[in-house]
Parts: sequence; C-alpha cells; structure tokens
Amino acid sequence: MTFNPNNCRNESEVETKLIVSYLLPKLGYTPDNWHQEIAFGNIRLDFLSFATQVLPIVIDTDSPMSVIIEAKHPRENLDRHIRKLKRYLTSLSIRYGMITNAKEVRIYERVADDIQLVFKCAGQDIETKIDEIYALVGRDSLKVVKNQDNLELEDSEINLVSPELTNEVPLTPNNSATAEPNHNQISELENTPETVPVNTEVKLDIIFQTATQNTMKIIAVYHNKGGVGKTTTVVNLAAALSKQGKRVLVIDLDSQANTTFATGLVKFDDEEQDDLKQSNILHILQSEDFYTISEVARKSNFCTPAIDVVPSHIDLMQYETELNSLDYSRMILIQKLAEVQDKYDIVLIDTPPSLNFYARVALIAADYLIIPSDLKPFANQGLINVKDFIKKVNGFKKQIGKNPLQVLGVLPSKISTNTKFVQYSLPRRRDIIPKRYGMEIMESVIYERDDLAKCAEQTQMVGDMEIADPISVLDFKPDSYSAQEFEELAREVLEKIGK
Ligand SMILES: Nc1ncnc2c1ncn2[C@@H]1O[C@H](COP(=O)(O)OP(=O)(O)OP(=O)(O)O)[C@@H](O)[C@H]1O
Ligand SMILES: [Mg+2]
Repeated sequence: MTFNPNNCRNESEVETKLIVSYLLPKLGYTPDNWHQEIAFGNIRLDFLSFATQVLPIVIDTDSPMSVIIEAKHPRENLDRHIRKLKRYLTSLSIRYGMITNAKEVRIYERVADDIQLVFKCAGQDIETKIDEIYALVGRDSLKVVKNQDNLELEDSEINLVSPELTNEVPLTPNNSATAEPNHNQISELENTPETVPVNTEVKLDIIFQTATQNTMKIIAVYHNKGGVGKTTTVVNLAAALSKQGKRVLVIDLDSQANTTFATGLVKFDDEEQDDLKQSNILHILQSEDFYTISEVARKSNFCTPAIDVVPSHIDLMQYETELNSLDYSRMILIQKLAEVQDKYDIVLIDTPPSLNFYARVALIAADYLIIPSDLKPFANQGLINVKDFIKKVNGFKKQIGKNPLQVLGVLPSKISTNTKFVQYSLPRRRDIIPKRYGMEIMESVIYERDDLAKCAEQTQMVGDMEIADPISVLDFKPDSYSAQEFEELAREVLEKIGK
C-alpha cells in the first residue's frame, strides 16, 4: 500500500487516508489494538494504540506500550499543537505521541514531565522512512520496550483496576448495557489476546473512565510571597470543584490557619474552647501510626456540596524544628494521603508564604502546583526562589521515586479591574512570566473584587456571640464575576490535570 500526502485535503482525510489506511497497518496495529476518539475527562485523543492487548490499561501508571496519534488539518502548523500533545502525554503517562497534518510527521517521546522530538519527516518521505517510524512506535518495537522495562507493570495494572469494574461504572452514551465489563470478561481477554470481541473499544472507554475517576490528584497552591491570594484561591477553587461534582479535600499547612478560618472551622471566640488544638495537621505529621486523614478532617459547609478540610493550628510554628529532624516527617503526608485515595478526587493544599518545612512537605506530597501572583515586581522576584525551591523538592521526589511536580502555572491573582490596566499593563505583565522567569502563565485571571473579601467576612450570631461564618464566593454570589472566574479556573485546572 502506498501513501500520497496530496490526497489528504482535510483533517478527516488525514485520519482515514494516512492514519487508518496506511500508518496503523504499516506499524502492525490491527483494529482490535488501536482505538479512535478516546475520551479521558476533558481530553479527547484521536487515536491510541497498544502494542499488546492488555486489559485493563491504567492510564496513570507508566504505560510505555501506548502511542497517541493526533491528526491535524494539512493547513495547520504542528507547532501550535505541541503544548497540547505534551499535556496529553504527561497527564496520561503515555510514552509516545505522533502528530501529523500529512505534510509533516513528528514523533515525541515523554521524558518525565516534558516531551522531546525523536523523529520528524515530510509527508512525501513517510514511505521511505517507515522503517524508522516502525522502530520507534511499531507494535513489535513497543512490545520490546515493554518487555525490557516493564515486566511487572501488566500485573499491577490489572490488580489496580479490576476491583473497580462493577456495574456501577457510568456508561457513556454509546455504550450498550451488554457492553458492561465484568471480571470474567477481563480475564478472558487477557488469556486470549488475539481473539478479542469486536466491541473492545466500548469496554476500554468504560475502563478509562473508571481509572481516571479513581486517580486522586494533589495540587499545592504556593508562592513564597505573602498576601498574593493563595488561601483565597484554595478555598474558592475547592468550592468550584465541589460544585462540579468532585470530591474535594483541603489541607491547611500554614500555621496562620487562614484556610481553616476561611472554611468556617473556627467556631469559637475564646481559646479555651479551641477544639482544633487536639486534632489538626500537626498530629497527622507527628504520628506515624495514629491520626489518619479521615480522623482529623472535618466537614466544612462553607460551600455546597460540603468539602472536607484538615485544619491547621498556630502550634505548627513551635514544632517545626522538631518535625524537621524526624526521618519520616517528609513522607508521612504522602503515606496518609495514599490511604484516602479512593475517597477524594482532588486534594488542595494551602501553604505558608515561606520556604519552610511545611511548604516543603506540601510540595513533596503534591503532583501539581499553582502559583498565585499579583504579577507585581516583588512577587515576580520571589519566583526565582520558588523555582529554586521546586528544583530542590524535585531532587527529593526523584530519590523517593515520585514524579516531579508539574507546575500548572502562575495564576494572575488580585488583579486590578482598571480598564486601562487590563488593556495595556496586564498583557505585558503576563508576558514577563514565561519570558523572564521561564514559567507558564495560567489562562484564568482572578481579579481584585469586593465580593471575595466580603464573603470571607460573613458572621452569624450564636446566642450573644458573633461567630465567623465565611462562605465561598460561589455560594455568596453565584452570578458574580468572582464566582465565574473561579469556575473558569476550575475548568482550566481539570483540563490540565486530565480530570
Ligand atoms: N481577588 C481578590 N480580590 C479581593 N481581595 C482579595 C483577593 N484575593 C485575596 N484578597 C484579600 O487579600 C488578602 C490576602 O489574601 P490571601 O489570604 O488569599 O493571600 P495569601 O497569599 O494566602 O496570604 P498569606 O501569604 O499570608 O497566606 C485577604 O484579605 C483576602 O481577602
Ligand atoms: Mg494564606
């Protein structure tokens, strides 16, 4: 079979004429081991292929046997789509990504949280270069990689996902009732890989959704500059995610305990009634065997649906040195979070404005990082420290076998709504972040608005006492600009983390 790039006049023809009719067969894939239009949360992949028919596939486990193929319109410049491809590969832990508009073919390989170009050729050269392409992403080549690098992966994948495959799995519209997978079907598929029933794709859809839903993602919100909106971001983003149906846990790792206060857990006016002193994040970090997250977390009704919050306490300050000297203290939060991984979809961690032990613990436990910033000079200069801090944390994460932090970006926060500022200064300030500091800037913007301060200052009378009764801005004024900005931020975060 031959291929002529000039026959591809639009994206659909790139898919059918180049990928389905030419590339996939040449690379050794048959219709039962490649899958078209696969959705993981907000991510839609054009093609995903497997070297082996291993079911189920867990996308958050390193899966070197998979390759994504993205088709683009022949007039599209591939450069514009590389960032997205990078996000797909890193968030889905897939090793290779091929992208083509028929005029050009490129293959990228994921290396930790980045991607590298490993192959490139013009459309008319595909036939002469097909062996090179085969060597990288051909079905047999990937099998070799899998066998060398990942012998144990297959078993762990199956164990991880199989128990979750119950009839409660939500079905996508194209799934019929008969397509619901069960354990027997899965084991049959494993044993007879080449005789898979034709409707495998439907099962995969379900399996992917199950796997995605059960992958708890941990996001730290950090900047070493104070007062830039970290706490405001944590609590209102938590509310927005909760309203989108996510099960959210917030952890306050700042001894100022502002998140604890902002989520309404400080229900006392007199320190003698302090019910947080006996059970807070400090106890979680101090004790290897006791104080699980489930025991310490409290329900917060500061938003609807309610979320869980692990409170902080001023006592954290006096124990910092002691905790820092304990061998296990950096690991304990990771371990205790692993115990609740089926209970939450997203964990948000608020951090202190410093480079201290607690900030380090937060970043070590986190998968992702959001850096709120007012984009003013002092906050910008602080980014140099933040970068350095991330580097050190990643050094430690590597030692303990954890993936490096993925920075979701600098989040413009407390930004003036002055029209001239928004029109002229804000774009310049945004540009500075990637150019001067080499960091991504998030698309969402949280503007400085009275509603955000007001909702945090709500009170109620209990007897003759005025008690703080803060609520999220989304519950305070659901139609306000602020509420919409946090909804937008939640959407951006979910897309970036593949939820
Ligand atoms: N977008 C906003 N609009 C109006 N006020 C805001 C906004 N963001 C934060 N604030 C106010 O600014 C102050 C500092 O915000 P916040 O506590 O969220 O910052 P922080 O970075 O967590 O501070 P710290 O470093 O002390 O922990 C608070 O009083 C908060 O109500
Ligand atoms: Mg704060």
